[in-house]
Amino acid sequence: MTQADSGLVAVYPGTFDPVTNGHLDLVQRCAPLVGKLVVSVLANEAKSPLFSAEERVDMLKVVLQEFANVEIDFFDGLLIDYARRKQARLILRGIRAISDYEYELQMALMNRRLAPEIETMFMMAGEAHSFISSRLVKEVIRLGGNISGLVPPPVEDILRRRILNQGG
Ligand code: PNS
Repeated sequence: MTQADSGLVAVYPGTFDPVTNGHLDLVQRCAPLVGKLVVSVLANEAKSPLFSAEERVDMLKVVLQEFANVEIDFFDGLLIDYARRKQARLILRGIRAISDYEYELQMALMNRRLAPEIETMFMMAGEAHSFISSRLVKEVIRLGGNISGLVPPPVEDILRRRILNQGG
């Protein structure tokens, strides 16, 4: 089956505060397997993100522009309600280490209970990316460390400017 034949819609939800090379790796590997991959930012500000939902969406649009079947969007409320609106049959999540597993298992089982027709699909982070998280990237740059290779270059620039503007 080629990409064009597949009507399968997958949603890749996350906070993406900001998008890292780990997220990018997952999109690169999943996009060819589905008809459409909707990368969707959780717009809820309860997690006190560094970037607004609009800024996170804009960064994703910049770094994912080469993928013809990837749509960038945002959502609020229950993920499964959003996935249903998007007519998605799959939710994509990445797993880096065993420490991710418990949280992901809980979410996947709750989502399955709420929407048995939607599957959660896990992909293992690439070896080169298994230690990268948005939280650690922000901490390292805030403390003056080098984050090149951990986030796409445009994101590194935006992050640096935001952290400097905040006075470190
Ligand atoms: O990148 P993150 O922070 O690990 O993403 C978490 C996310 C956005 C996938 C999760 O918080 C979520 O789905 N939130 C939407 C609210 C919801 O549906 N909650 C019930 C899921 S069990």
